Amino acid sequence: MHSFLIKGGTPLHGEVEISGAKNAVLPIMAAALLTRDECVIHNAPVLSDVSFMGRVLTSLGAKVRQRGHTITIQADRINGHGDYELVRKMRGSICILGPLLARLKHAEVSFPGGCVIGARPIDLHLKAMRALGANVKVEAGYVVAKARRLEGVRMFLGGKAGPTVLGTANAMMAATLAEGVTVIESAACEPEIVDLANFLNAMGARIEGAGSPTITITGVKELHGAEHAVIPDRIEAATLAIAAAATRGEVTLKGARPDHMHAVLDKLVTMGVKVDWDANGLTVKGVRDLQPTDVTTQPYAGFPTDVQAQMTVLLTQAPGVSIVTERIFESRFMHIGELLRLGADITLEGPSAVIKGPARLSGAAVMASDLRASAALVVAGLIARGETLVKRVYHLDRGYEKLEVKLRRLGASVQRLKRS
Ligand code: EPU
Repeated sequence: MHSFLIKGGTPLHGEVEISGAKNAVLPIMAAALLTRDECVIHNAPVLSDVSFMGRVLTSLGAKVRQRGHTITIQADRINGHGDYELVRKMRGSICILGPLLARLKHAEVSFPGGCVIGARPIDLHLKAMRALGANVKVEAGYVVAKARRLEGVRMFLGGKAGPTVLGTANAMMAATLAEGVTVIESAACEPEIVDLANFLNAMGARIEGAGSPTITITGVKELHGAEHAVIPDRIEAATLAIAAAATRGEVTLKGARPDHMHAVLDKLVTMGVKVDWDANGLTVKGVRDLQPTDVTTQPYAGFPTDVQAQMTVLLTQAPGVSIVTERIFESRFMHIGELLRLGADITLEGPSAVIKGPARLSGAAVMASDLRASAALVVAGLIARGETLVKRVYHLDRGYEKLEVKLRRLGASVQRLKRS
């Protein structure tokens, strides 16, 4: 298993290119199942989750090719039976359910389990498929969905933690080929949903309102191939922005979309970090005297849960008390124990982490537990004195394209160790 060996203490400086968004490209790849024609996806990040999704689509019979940052998918002949082990391993692959049901009127997808960040139910996905007229059962570990036809309907997709991103994606994809008009109320507003809707519309779908809580889909008979460039990854951009601020460096994030990052940028500015943008990108400049603040994760356009762990690390550097409250995934605090090992002062109180700063972090061996927790540990390693060994970085490779290469270009000392 690979690890990162980080020698902390160097401020990051320079320019770095932001890759395409993982959470946009995964449902977009699944959407290619909706047509027999070839689809071409540009600006796709090179990530293990993306090749994994490629394998899932291949197991369904699609032809998938990734050359650099371009993926070509042709799903002319497919079956509706997702490989049990493959689908089970990556939660994101649940978004094949909607397209398979719409195209074949039959889908069998393994029931995704919980994961380290929380229980992660899929009741809202199933509710959406049932609302469109499918008979959905859970049998022998599979979600089995069948329909004679799908029919447009008004559905409410809000859950206890608000809307669901991939549930909205599944509902939207299934509804593109349903008869009549579907209205999704309490839809997720994430930019990744807008990107998916843009791709589907390029395929001939009729979707309005994506990016707002009400999405209207007028079903069409069939979809055709399309070409699309994926939006830049706002979570990667936020992670690098936080790394720049935490190391008191100055970094320009080329291609970042500040309009997708208001909540994160607002918090950085509140903490005293200098943020500026122009046609070249978003520039983040760290300051010596950071201010503490409170952060609560929320559905978009609120503060993203996917940036909670990284922000916690930055707050360890602000003198005073900060509180980070997690409202989307109940147990997304696996990084806290590892941050304590590095010398942070953080107490968990229910869904909140109480952070007392400034902490003088010092390097140690730590274990990555999930994707964003790993990113947080890397940021911590960049500011800790001495050497930090972040183990199990395969989590990072799921969602950050060549993070160590990007950080080295910015002056950091980060080495990938193939064995540790
Ligand atoms: N929820 C339900 N029922 C459902 C679905 C979700 O109660 O049927 C709850 C969840 O338990 C959670 C909340 O609704 O409390 C939101 O979950 P959501 O469905 O929006 O999450 P997701 O679509 O499975 C995507 C991202 C996650 C990101 C979340 C929230 C992808 C591939 N994954 O997951 O990304 O944290 O939205 O923004 O798009 C990551 O990239 O590290 C990651 C975990």
